[in-house]
Amino acid sequence: IPVEPFDLVIFGGTGDLARRKILPALFRRFCSGQMGEESRIIGAARSDHTAGEFRQMVSEAIEEFNTTTQCEGGTLDAFLERIDYVHVDARGEEGWQTLSDMMIPGRVRAFYFSVAPSLFGDLAERLHAHGMADSDSRIVVEKPFGRDLETARALNETLARHFDESQIYRIDHYLGKETVQNLMAVRFGNMLFEPLWNSQYVDHIQITVAETVGVGGRGEYYDRSGAMRDMVQNHLMQLLCLIAMEPPAKFDPDAVRDEKLKVIRALDPVETGNIVRGQYGPERKGGPDYLDDVENPRATSESFIAMRTTISNWRWAGTPFYLRTGKKLKARASEIAVIFKETPHSIFGPEAGRHRNILTIRLQPNEGMDLDVTIKEPGPGGMRLVDVPLDMTFAEALGPDGEDVPDAYERLIMDVIRGNQTLFMRGDEVEAAWAWTDPIIEGWESRGDRPVTYEPGSSGPEDALALVHRDGRRWREIRA
Ligand code: BG6
Repeated sequence: IPVEPFDLVIFGGTGDLARRKILPALFRRFCSGQMGEESRIIGAARSDHTAGEFRQMVSEAIEEFNTTTQCEGGTLDAFLERIDYVHVDARGEEGWQTLSDMMIPGRVRAFYFSVAPSLFGDLAERLHAHGMADSDSRIVVEKPFGRDLETARALNETLARHFDESQIYRIDHYLGKETVQNLMAVRFGNMLFEPLWNSQYVDHIQITVAETVGVGGRGEYYDRSGAMRDMVQNHLMQLLCLIAMEPPAKFDPDAVRDEKLKVIRALDPVETGNIVRGQYGPERKGGPDYLDDVENPRATSESFIAMRTTISNWRWAGTPFYLRTGKKLKARASEIAVIFKETPHSIFGPEAGRHRNILTIRLQPNEGMDLDVTIKEPGPGGMRLVDVPLDMTFAEALGPDGEDVPDAYERLIMDVIRGNQTLFMRGDEVEAAWAWTDPIIEGWESRGDRPVTYEPGSSGPEDALALVHRDGRRWREIRA
C-alpha cells in the first residue's frame, strides 16, 4: 500500500549512512510500490553539487549497496527523477531559503539528521527559523544520541525547543529488524510462552550480538565509544527491554515505550566483578590489532564486553541476564536464548540426566527460532533422554514472503512517514539508558581498568567464560 506523498530531506545526504542504508532502503520501498507517485527525496549537504551530480551519486550508491533484484515499482531512472539536491550550510544562512521554497504546504515532511550530533541543534534552529518546523514536520535522528546522561539531556532539550516529542524519531536500527519485532510477536501472540516468562520458570537469559568485522575505518569514533556506548546502551538494551517488559495493553507507541522504560529503570547497577572487557589482538603475528585499528596505542576502550545484569522487579528478580557483544569474534551471530529451569523432579531416575528447555531466537543471520525439547532417545535400552531442537527458519516457514526480508531502515523510514513512533526511542528512554550506563563506565574509568586481549576469531576473552561458569552456567556456542 503506498504511503501518502512525502518530502524527505536528508541532511548529510552525501554521507556514508545515506549511501549505505538510507538511499538503498528508499529505493527498495520505491521498487515495492510503497513510495507513492509524488514523493520526493531531497539531499542536503555542505558540498556544492548540482542535482544531477547528486543523482549520479545516488545511482552509484544503489548500484553498490542495493540488494533487491526485482523492481516492480519502476526503473532506477524513475526513482532518480524524484531526487533533488540543495546545498545548505548547517551553521550559516546558505541554502535555507531555497530549501524552504521547495517545501509543499500541508504535505508530510521528514528531515533526516544524518550528520554529527553537534549539528542537531543548528539544524533544528534553522528549520524553525525558516518556517519548516510546523506540525507537518518530523525529524529523524541517529545514534549516538549523546555520550552520557548529561549530553543526552542537553540534546533532548535542544530538540525540544523547536519540536514536540511526537515529531522526534530517534532511530535504533535494531528495532527495525524483522526478527526483533518478532520477539514481540512470539511473546504476545502466543499463549504458550508468556505464562512461563518469569523467574519462576526461566533460569537465565543470554543475549549475544557477535560480529566478525573489526572497527576498521571508524577507529576514531569507536575509540571514543567502545562497545558499551556503541552497542550495549542502545541495541542490546532494546533487546533486553523487549524480552523483559510487561505486556503493553496495546501495540501503540507510548504503551510499548512506557513498558520498556520501566524495565530500564528497574535494571540494577552492574558491579565491576560482573563485567569483562576485551580488545582483539592481531590476526597474525605483527598484524594490526585493536590499538592499531583505532590508531591509539593507549586506547582503553573495548571491542568486546560481557556482563551479568539483573532486573529488580517481581517478574525477574533472581534471573540473571547475561549480555555480550564484540567485534572480530568467531561468527556473525546474534541471538537471544531463554534458558528454562530444569524439571523439579525426574521420574526417570538419575541416569536420565537433568534436562531443560531452551528457546532461542536467532536475530541474524539465518533468522528463526528453535526450542530445545527433551524426548526419549530411540532404542530398547530403557528410558534415556535426549534434547532435540524444534527448529524453524523464518524464510522456510514463511515461503517466498519470508525470503525477502526488508532492511531495518526500510521499515523505520516508512514508519516515520506514517507517523508511527512505536519502533523509535523516546527521550526519557534514552536518558534512562544512559543513567544506567554512566556509573558503569565511570567505574572503570576512575579505576583506570584496561580491557584484556582476546584472540580474533574466538568467542572473546577467557574471563567472559568465567563470568558465566562461576554461576554454574555456560555461554551458548557462537555460531552462524
Ligand atoms: C551499529 C554500530 O550501530 O551497529 C556498529 O555502530 C555495528 O559498530 C552495527 O557494527 C551492527 O549492526 P548490524 O545491523 O550489522 O547488526
